[in-house]
Amino acid sequence: MAVAIAVTRERRDGEPRCAVTPETVKKLLALGATVTVEAGTGLGSAIPDDDYVQAGAVVTKDTRAAVERADVVLKVRGPTAQEISGLKPGAVVLAMLDAHREKDTVAALAGADVTAFAMEFVPRITRAQVMDVLSSQANLAGYRAVIEAAYAYGKGFPMMMTAAGTVAAAKVFVMGVGVAGLQAIATARRLGAVVTATDVRPATKEQVESLGAKFLAVEDEEFRNAQTAGGYAKPMSAEYQAKQALLTGEHIKKQDIVITTALIPGRVAPRLISAEQVATMKRGSVIVDLAVESGGNVEGARPGEVVTTANGIQIVGHTNLPGRIAADASALYARNLVAFIGLLVKDGTLALDLEDEILKASVVTHGGAIVHEGIKP
Ligand code: NAI
Repeated sequence: MAVAIAVTRERRDGEPRCAVTPETVKKLLALGATVTVEAGTGLGSAIPDDDYVQAGAVVTKDTRAAVERADVVLKVRGPTAQEISGLKPGAVVLAMLDAHREKDTVAALAGADVTAFAMEFVPRITRAQVMDVLSSQANLAGYRAVIEAAYAYGKGFPMMMTAAGTVAAAKVFVMGVGVAGLQAIATARRLGAVVTATDVRPATKEQVESLGAKFLAVEDEEFRNAQTAGGYAKPMSAEYQAKQALLTGEHIKKQDIVITTALIPGRVAPRLISAEQVATMKRGSVIVDLAVESGGNVEGARPGEVVTTANGIQIVGHTNLPGRIAADASALYARNLVAFIGLLVKDGTLALDLEDEILKASVVTHGGAIVHEGIKP
């Protein structure tokens, strides 16, 4: 029997993305699967139901029936309790589960005896680059953060010489130069801003400079050892943070836009800007905190809100920035999923090799239990 793949509408508030596109329907069919898509799944990404039908999917309003028969269910975010209750035992679920935080969802998936993979746990090895949802979504988030900043900012980004005089270029400071930060630098540069950036990983210095921005950091012994073997930042000591705050504090005063993206996997985001530092900025300046959902890099940032401080500085705390560029985010995410499914389907049938390095790192529930070391109760 062909592998039955079902994709349902995202049910979480503020989630316009979807896990399948007409392009990936065709690729899934080519793997020997059948694809059932719940009506309305693509609307938030400007994909009408008809486009799925033309690509060869079955579009249905009967979500429950589609899910009950499915061998594989594709989601952007974790399924709801109701969706989980309809899953067939032994089915496979792929989603960005946010498994460290969404403990109830993970427990329910284990209870339903399904094999759930958290796409955010796919290891960042070369073979898995094409499945790397953290990169595909963070890249778009970094771009969108600059667009949001430009929208909120009451002045232009590029220097403009006009008959009526010169408009100065905006000064943009990017804090945290991972995937999102690098794209933020590139986007701000394309818009003509003067860009500086900081990070605690030494490898970022060259990357920042290669994008035409200036690097600024406390480059001491701790900085030289701040990158883990996995390529991530370590939590920095209180002493380092104090030195960093001194250096960046002086710099922030002179900036028009600050974009913060600093994260440490599985931990609360580091606090990089205090309320006092925010208060030193010029009226009309804009801060975008991409880490707002992980605790925030900026004191006073609130998830889902644009806060205006007493001295007229806007702190933009939009959640789900990739969702604000949903059509592209869905297209890239859906391709990440197709690549991952390529590991699960052999000769048209589902064949899970949980010893495969990629599957082993990302499987969260299997055989009725939570199996991921990082989130076992
Ligand atoms: P992330 O989203 O976990 O963190 C964002 C940035 O914040 C990182 O650059 C981190 O160093 C920085 N940061 C953390 N604490 C900070 C602090 N106190 N002050 C300033 N900055 C701070 O990072 P992301 O975007 O997931 O990338 C992490 C690494 O993974 C990078 O080295 C990246 O190049 C690597 N990577 C490797 C891939 C591969 O396939 N080999 C694919 C994608 C990323």
